[in-house]
Amino acid sequence: MDRTTELQLIDELLAIKAGRTFYLDEEVTRNPVSHYVSEERFNLEREKLFRQVPLIAAHSSELAEPGSFLRRDIAGLPVLLTRDRQGGANAFLNVCRHRGTQLVEADSGCQHKFTCPYHAWTYSSAGKLLAAPHFKEGFTGEEKSDYGLKRLTCEERHGFIWVRAEGEGPADVEGFLGGLSPELDALQIDDMFVASNETIEVEANWKLIVEGGIEAYHFKVAHRETIGPHFEDNLSTYRMFGDHMRSILMRSSMARLDPDTRDEWRLRDHAQVLYNLLPTSSLLVQQDHIASIHSEPLGPSTTRLRLVTLAPKADAHKTDHWAQNHTITKTTLMEDFVLNASMQKGLASGAIDHMTFGRFEGALDAYNNVVESYLEGPPPMAEAVG
Ligand code: FES
Ligand SMILES: [Fe+2]
Repeated sequence: MDRTTELQLIDELLAIKAGRTFYLDEEVTRNPVSHYVSEERFNLEREKLFRQVPLIAAHSSELAEPGSFLRRDIAGLPVLLTRDRQGGANAFLNVCRHRGTQLVEADSGCQHKFTCPYHAWTYSSAGKLLAAPHFKEGFTGEEKSDYGLKRLTCEERHGFIWVRAEGEGPADVEGFLGGLSPELDALQIDDMFVASNETIEVEANWKLIVEGGIEAYHFKVAHRETIGPHFEDNLSTYRMFGDHMRSILMRSSMARLDPDTRDEWRLRDHAQVLYNLLPTSSLLVQQDHIASIHSEPLGPSTTRLRLVTLAPKADAHKTDHWAQNHTITKTTLMEDFVLNASMQKGLASGAIDHMTFGRFEGALDAYNNVVESYLEGPPPMAEAVG
C-alpha cells in the first residue's frame, strides 16, 4: 500500500482508540444458520462461487522447476498442477481420459511423464497423450491427439498459481482482484518461498473460518493465552476492494507510537494486516513474513486448510525463526478452529436460526453479502468472459 494510505490507516485506528469507541457499521445484521449447515447451500456455493472464480492453488515456488507437479483438490475436483518443459504452469483434471482413473497419486514430485496406474496411458507435463498400449489395434479410428488431459484455466500472478475450474478464456486474476493488485504487488510474494506448510482438517463450515479472521471482538477472550495481550480490545477496521477485503487489527504498541518518529511508522509493525481474497484465501501480513491460509471446503461442516508460512527468499537460512513463527500462527489459529468446530455443532443443534453480527462485526456481513451476490445471479466471471 502507498505511504499515504498506510498513515491514514494508523491515524484512523488511533482516532478510534482516542475516542473510546469502535469501528461501527450502521446496523446489527443477521445471517441464517442454514447458510452454514445446509448441503444444498454448500453445493450452490461450490457450483456458483468456488468453480467460477480463480482460486489460489499453490505458491509458485512449490512448482519451481520444469517437471515439478502437485496434486490438489480444487472446488471438489481432483487437479494436477504441472510445470512443463517450457516453464509454463498448467492445471489439468487429474483424470485419465481412457476410463477416468485418477492419474497421479503422489502429492508432489518431479517428472515429465505421467503413467496411469490402470492401463498405462502416458501423458506429458503439458497434458498430451504420448503413449497408450496397443492403441492402434484397440482404438481404431481414434486419434491420440484427441485424448489430452482436460485443461483448466490457470494463471501465475502475485507469486501464486491461480486455477479456475470452469469457464473458457483467461482467468483474469487482475480483474478479479478488484483494485487490490498494487497492494499485493507491494508484498513481493513472488520473492518468497514456502518456509513451512501443513494441512489441517476442521469440522466447521468454511465461512465460520473466514469470519473468525475478520473481527477483533474475540481477541481478548479467545486468544487471552496467546496473542490477545498484544492487541487492543475489539479494534479493527476493514475496507472492501471489489469482492475482497483488507482488515487491520490494531496492536497495543500502536498507541505508544511517538509522533516525532511518524516518518518511520510501519503499519505492519503495529497491526495485523489481513487480506481476505474471495472465497477462502487469507494473507496475514506479519512483520517479516506472511502467513497464508487456503481452504478447501469438503462439505457443509468440514473444511481442509493449508496453512503456509511464506518468507523472503533472501532470509531462507533463518530456518528456526520461520519454524517458530509457523508454530505461533498455528497455535493461535487452532484456538479459532476449536471454537469454529464448537460453533458448527451448536448451529447444527437448531438452537438458533440466525447468527447475529454486532456493529463492530460489520466485516462479517460485508463478506457474506459478497458470497450471496454470487449465488443469486449468473456467475460474474462467466459473464465477463462470455
Ligand atoms: S483408465 Fe487410465 S489407462 Fe485406462
Ligand atoms: Fe482468532
